[in-house]
Amino acid sequence: MTAVPILEAKNVCFNYQTGKPVLRDLNLAIPAGARVALVGPNGAGKSTLFLHFNAILRPTGGALYYQGKPYDYSRQSVNRLRQKIGLVFQDQDMQLFAPTVLDDVLFGPMNMGLTLAEAERAARAAVETVEMTDYLADPVHFLSPGQKKRVALAGVLAMEPDVLVMDEPTAGLDYAGSVNLCEIMGRLHKAGKTLVISTHDMDWVMEWADLVVAMFDGQVSACGTAAEVLLRPDHAELGFARPTGYGKPDGWKRCGE
Ligand SMILES: Nc1ncnc2c1ncn2[C@@H]1O[C@H](COP(=O)(O)OP(=O)(O)OP(=O)(O)O)[C@@H](O)[C@H]1O
Ligand SMILES: [Mg+2]
Repeated sequence: MTAVPILEAKNVCFNYQTGKPVLRDLNLAIPAGARVALVGPNGAGKSTLFLHFNAILRPTGGALYYQGKPYDYSRQSVNRLRQKIGLVFQDQDMQLFAPTVLDDVLFGPMNMGLTLAEAERAARAAVETVEMTDYLADPVHFLSPGQKKRVALAGVLAMEPDVLVMDEPTAGLDYAGSVNLCEIMGRLHKAGKTLVISTHDMDWVMEWADLVVAMFDGQVSACGTAAEVLLRPDHAELGFARPTGYGKPDGWKRCGE
């Protein structure tokens, strides 16, 4: 018997108000505990799919499943889903809205029904994890984009999700930020969490992913191990680069292990 995927999309179709199909009969199963990377060209539909995982968008056809059960879009279920499946947006300005860093990170745990003391403990721990404690009382809108990214991640970590979905988490981070992110992801993976990212950084994918999903024009164009997908001879037609470091004698080292 095969294990039930933690997240699954079956025949998912979606179009925005413009009417153009963006997700076209998309099928994808994500095993629990996996490190999954979505790759593919701009406009392939990666962010749109992620917004479906988090129940921000609802498919116009097909369905999403969490632990084998179809998504229920009642307010209560959606709140629960968003706690279990945390999404870090591609655009941090869409995610952050509270006046200060602490207020922003507090929002999720407060919404989960924790007391203020419990929520504050979770929020402070998450802010410490992303190394932003010095900025707790600072206004979010004065932070740099990379710092906003860390705060957005803290906001999701504070809810202790089972699945962490991150849309282009490596973009715009400095060296320390990338190493920190890599360590956080290593720890979460060891704790059994499922990690799903999108990225255009093929070296990162090659080093990190257990499962690589390539998307093209709203569909899954290839799926498999990093080597199976990224080293395909038709990678250019599918709209993604090969990892530049492939073949280096020292290979890649998995960060955080
Ligand atoms: N709010 C929106 N309204 C209308 N169309 C949209 C909206 N957001 C995205 N789209 C369209 O949906 C398609 C898929 O966009 P999406 O952002 O999901 O792609 P992506 O794979 O995440 O690309 P990128 O690599 O640039 O982040 C694009 O053609 C885009 O123009
Ligand atoms: Mg995107």
